[in-house]
Amino acid sequence: MDTYLTTVVSNEQIADKIFRIELQGDIVKEMNTPGQFVNIKVSNSYEFLLRRPISICEINKEKNTFVMVYRADGAGTKKISQLKKGEEVDVLGPLGKGYDVYTLKEGQTALLVGGGIGVPPLYELAKQFKNEGIKTIHILGFNNEKDVFYEDKFSELGTTYVATADGTYGEKGFVTDVIKKYDIAYDKYFSCGPFAMLKALTTMDEEKIGYISLEERMACGVGACYACVCEKQDGSISRVCYDGPVYESTEIAL
Ligand code: FES
Repeated sequence: MDTYLTTVVSNEQIADKIFRIELQGDIVKEMNTPGQFVNIKVSNSYEFLLRRPISICEINKEKNTFVMVYRADGAGTKKISQLKKGEEVDVLGPLGKGYDVYTLKEGQTALLVGGGIGVPPLYELAKQFKNEGIKTIHILGFNNEKDVFYEDKFSELGTTYVATADGTYGEKGFVTDVIKKYDIAYDKYFSCGPFAMLKALTTMDEEKIGYISLEERMACGVGACYACVCEKQDGSISRVCYDGPVYESTEIAL
C-alpha cells in the first residue's frame, strides 16, 4: 500500500460528534473491497505523529472520491473535523482485509449489523451486495437518538431497523433484541461494532455463519508494530490491521 495526497470535497457534522468527510484522489483507484480502512496523517506536528485509522464508508469511482464517517472525540479526529474544502490530506491505504461480497449468491439475504461508529463500513458493503443482486437487511444500533446517522441512506438499499440502548429512537434495546423480536431470516450476517455487540451476535445462534470486523486500537496500520493484536480461537495471535479487521465469527476468541 502507498500514501496518497487527497483533497477535501466536503466535511460536515451529521450527528453528535459524528462527521462525514469526502476526499478525492487516486487512492480511490485502489479501493474495491468494503470493510477496509485508511490511515490519515492529521498534520506534520509532533503532537500528531501517529496516523488515525478510519474505515471507508463509501467508494465513488466515477467521482474519484471516498467517504469516511468518523467520531471526533480525540485531539486527532477533532483536528480532522476542522479540515476545510480544498485542503490536502495525506492518506495511507487502503489497508486490511475487508468483507467478501461473493460469499453470497444472487437472491440470498445478508443481515448487516452495525453498532455506533461500526455502522459506516457496512454502507459500502450494502451497496456492493445490491449490485450483485443480494438482498440486505440492516440493523443499526446506537446509544441515543442524538447518535443516529445514515438511517435514510441504508433505507434506500433495504429494510432498516434502528435500535437505541435508551429507547429515545427506534427500537429500545440492542441489535440482538431486534433480530429476536422480528424473527429476521437471513443467510449470513456481516457485522462491525463494539466487542460486546459482536459477542452477543456471534453467541446468539452459533450455527449461523457470520463475519465480524474488530475495532482495535491501532498504530502503524500495516502489520509492523503489533499494537492491535487479538487472540484467535486456536490460541494464536492475529494483527487486526493486517490479517483483519474482518474475520469469520468462529475465528476469533471473543
Ligand atoms: Fe501496527 Fe497493527 S497497528 S501491527
